[in-house]
Amino acid sequence: MTAQLLSGKVFSEAIRTEVAAEVADIREVHGFSPCLVVVRVGEDPASAVYVGSKVRTAEELGIVSEHLHFPAETSEDEIIAAVRGLNARSDVDGILVQLPLPKHIDEQKVLELIDPEKDVDGFHPVNAGRLMQGHEALTPCTPAGVIEVLKRSGITIAGKNAVVVGRSNIVGKPMAMLLLHENATVTICHSRTADLPGVCSGADILVAAIGRAGFITAEHIGQGAAVVDVGINNVEDPAKARELFGPDDLDKRLATIEKRGFTLVGDVNPRDAMAKAAYFTPVPGGIGLLTVAMLMKNTVTAARMRRKI
Ligand code: GUN
Repeated sequence: MTAQLLSGKVFSEAIRTEVAAEVADIREVHGFSPCLVVVRVGEDPASAVYVGSKVRTAEELGIVSEHLHFPAETSEDEIIAAVRGLNARSDVDGILVQLPLPKHIDEQKVLELIDPEKDVDGFHPVNAGRLMQGHEALTPCTPAGVIEVLKRSGITIAGKNAVVVGRSNIVGKPMAMLLLHENATVTICHSRTADLPGVCSGADILVAAIGRAGFITAEHIGQGAAVVDVGINNVEDPAKARELFGPDDLDKRLATIEKRGFTLVGDVNPRDAMAKAAYFTPVPGGIGLLTVAMLMKNTVTAARMRRKI
């Protein structure tokens, strides 16, 4: 079997088109554009790329965006003051504080300060709690994007065995809740799970969110499963690339390592997924694109909810 690749590009473009139409409608009917503010502290190179993509996408869709970039040595008090200022601004619909923050800043403290109505990442405990209880909530973008891909691909979730590998507050836990709300039978696996291959290979839908390049291999993948790869890892070692990629992809990957020093790889061994799964989301070009699209959708949702339109 060769898996069908689920293109993040196709689905994210569809969502972006829908959001752009909604933004245009809000502007015409209500006379304003939703506004997203992204806060970044320090010089983490991956964060710079992600924030650039978020701000650029917002602008492309007609969402007003601001990028507040603070130096790495900015104090926790200054960041807290900045977030309080954004909470107080009536024109700001969405606030996103890009993680990771420098070590001297307490991430949880900052995230809990964001007005839950403006929490477009869905990381505030109020939104996490509302999601868990099945109420309307701003939902973390990556897991919400996974649900969109499954639904838009015509993959049935209800009644299926869904296995989520990883239990982070950002992906694993909300992913499990969303799959549960879609009536899947959900298992959450982690580093202490006994017989991980046995549990994973029983999954109809397998979501990998562990943060280890190519960790999920043939023994974890049931024949005909839908495998969703949420991981984004840098692989610098050509030998590791040889483990992960078949002849169709290897030369391109090795050339990328040569040129940039690394290639982007998910948590799933792509060669094994292509051989055993029925559906597979590639990295890059898979779920990562959905994360940004869903952030835009959340910004519009936040604007509508807070402004009661
Ligand atoms: N860092 C990595 N992914 C994310 C995300 O989805 N949101 C925020 N705020 N920071 C991140």
